[in-house]
Amino acid sequence: MYDLKNKRIFMKRMAVGPISVQDLYLGSIITVHSRQLKIVDYGDIFTKDKFEAAAGRTFAMVKPDCYTQTGKIIDAIYANGFIISKLKMSKFTKPQQADDFYEQHKGKPFFSDLNTYMQSDVVTGMELVKEDGVNSFRGLIGPTNSQDAKKEAPYTLRAMFGADAMRNGIHGSATGADY
Ligand code: CMP
Repeated sequence: MYDLKNKRIFMKRMAVGPISVQDLYLGSIITVHSRQLKIVDYGDIFTKDKFEAAAGRTFAMVKPDCYTQTGKIIDAIYANGFIISKLKMSKFTKPQQADDFYEQHKGKPFFSDLNTYMQSDVVTGMELVKEDGVNSFRGLIGPTNSQDAKKEAPYTLRAMFGADAMRNGIHGSATGADY
C-alpha cells in the first residue's frame, strides 16, 4: 500500500531477496523486487524499540586535532565492522556549544582548555551502527589519554591518531545518548 500523504510504502508480509537484519536501519537503501527503497521510519513503537536495542547505535566524533586524518579514521571504522548511518562535519562556533557537549566535565581543571580545543577547528560527528555499538567503539578508540593508549593499546585509534590526554583525536559516547 502506498500512503500518498506521507509518501511511504507499507508492504504485505512476503519473502524478499538477500536482505539481512543488519541492512535494516534508518537511512539505509534496500532493494525489494528491483525497487530501491530508503528506510525513513519505523512502522511502530515495538519495531523501533527492538531495532534500536539490537542495532547498538553510538555516537563518534573526530575532534579538531584529527581533522586532516578523518578519511583514515573513517576507513578504520568501516574496517572494524561499523556502519556509518549519519555523518556531519561541523564546528563548535560558540563556547556554550562545547560547554554543553562536555557538561559532565564541568568543574574539572581541564574544562576551559577542552572548550578552547574543541572550538579550534572542524569536527566530524557520526552515528555508528554495530552490535553492542557503545562498547565496541570504546574498545576501538582505546584509553582516554593517547599517551597511555600508545603504551597499552597501540592499535587503538587514540594510540594511532591522538597526541595526549586532551588531544586524543576521537570521542566515543559512553552511553549512546549524547547525540
Ligand atoms: P572524550 O572522551 O571526548 O571526553 C572528555 C574529554 O576531556 C576527553 O576525551 C579529553 O579530550 C578530555 N580529557 C579527559 N581527561 C583529561 C585530562 N586529564 N586532561 C586533559 N583533558 C582531558
